[in-house]
Amino acid sequence: MSENIIFKAAPGGKLTGDIRVPGDKSISHRSIMLGSIAEGTTEVTGFLEGEDNLATLNAFRAMGVKIDGPVNGQVTIQGVGLHGLQAPSEPVYLGNSGTSIRLLAGLMAGQAFDVEMIGDHSLSTRPMKRVTDPLASMGAKVDSSADGSPPLKVNGGSRLQGINYTMPMASAQVKSCLLLAGLYADGKTCVTEPAPTRDHTERMLEGFGYSVEREGSTACVVGGGKLTGRKIDVPADISSATFFMVGAAIAKGSDLLLEHVGINPTRVGVINILRLMGADLSLNNEREVGGEPVADIRVRGSQLQGIRIPEEQVPLAIDEFPALFVAAACATGETVLTGAEELRVKESDRIQAMADGLQVLGIDARPTADGMVIQGGQLQTGTVESHGDHRIAMAFAMAALRASGPITIHNCANVNTSFPDFVTLAQTAGLNISQKD
Ligand code: S3P
Repeated sequence: MSENIIFKAAPGGKLTGDIRVPGDKSISHRSIMLGSIAEGTTEVTGFLEGEDNLATLNAFRAMGVKIDGPVNGQVTIQGVGLHGLQAPSEPVYLGNSGTSIRLLAGLMAGQAFDVEMIGDHSLSTRPMKRVTDPLASMGAKVDSSADGSPPLKVNGGSRLQGINYTMPMASAQVKSCLLLAGLYADGKTCVTEPAPTRDHTERMLEGFGYSVEREGSTACVVGGGKLTGRKIDVPADISSATFFMVGAAIAKGSDLLLEHVGINPTRVGVINILRLMGADLSLNNEREVGGEPVADIRVRGSQLQGIRIPEEQVPLAIDEFPALFVAAACATGETVLTGAEELRVKESDRIQAMADGLQVLGIDARPTADGMVIQGGQLQTGTVESHGDHRIAMAFAMAALRASGPITIHNCANVNTSFPDFVTLAQTAGLNISQKD
């Protein structure tokens, strides 16, 4: 992404009203992947039309799957069955999307044809050995750059064997990659996680009629079954809602209702952490939609307190820390995060990027190897760099609600990877933000 979209957020204001943020990114990716390898038709509503999900959708079109849409979040997929994908005629471009490349690495390992997967500058630097090593032990042949980063070339025609794998890090992408490879493997593939991570793959496989054995921290699939097409209603993304939850929590006088947000227990770290910080946050109208729990979330402004973030919450809030660091900057006292070294290998090094930006804004934010120590204070005016990372850009936009002057944020084009129309929705809710191309 080369164009430098700049956000400028004016200071002050509050967030009010009822809004619905776009669909869940993780669930949208999986709806395309599983819908494509299912038998029969899958109809998706609430699909996130962000660049990451469109990259996944285009990849399956390139492999011969007929997909209509997205139109207003509706996508119809004519599934081709586990063995119906066709070789793409050129390398598959997956943009900025770590979820696409890591999950596809597993799915492609089971195909009869070769696939090369490439990405943008950020994706091309991200670690892939975490998937290529266990895939190799299943018998897959996946080539990467010398340092283990993309491009990835998955050589087809390998006979895969089920494995028992204990992940060294808590990663839903690695777990999902191996379970998807396991659909094509002889025997049983079991993945054990060191801490709970998002379980959308397991839930959705079950929804497609594919049995997943889940016991404690282990999930297993037996290869050779089949998936049956279904309807999927994608809830609003709690990770996108996070920017608004934090914005409403830090801005005095805010009263915001976020509608139809996914509250899968493996994703609710942000709610737990904000509550520990003293946020006024309630869940209303809790219900279940297509195997995923959903609620309307009401947040009102209040004075937050600094806390030591419990490490068990880290994987449950892994994408939410850019926004939570802003909450910590607005809290009274010190907030300490540890056990979050994974933040250094996301779309940017989120520990460094957020510490640098908060320091520019006058906050005492000290990065550590696996987290940050932040002293709450008065956010000042300044110009910060998002490093092309969508979540850094949106977090600093919300910081303006409590800043003494405007905040300018560079390199915001990647907000479109997860949250198209963020600026418009933020304006609707009361953030005084503008965008310049
Ligand atoms: C995701 C898992 C997480 C998360 C990412 C989406 C997924 O990554 O950060 O945005 O959809 O499985 P890790 O599994 O690498 O932590």
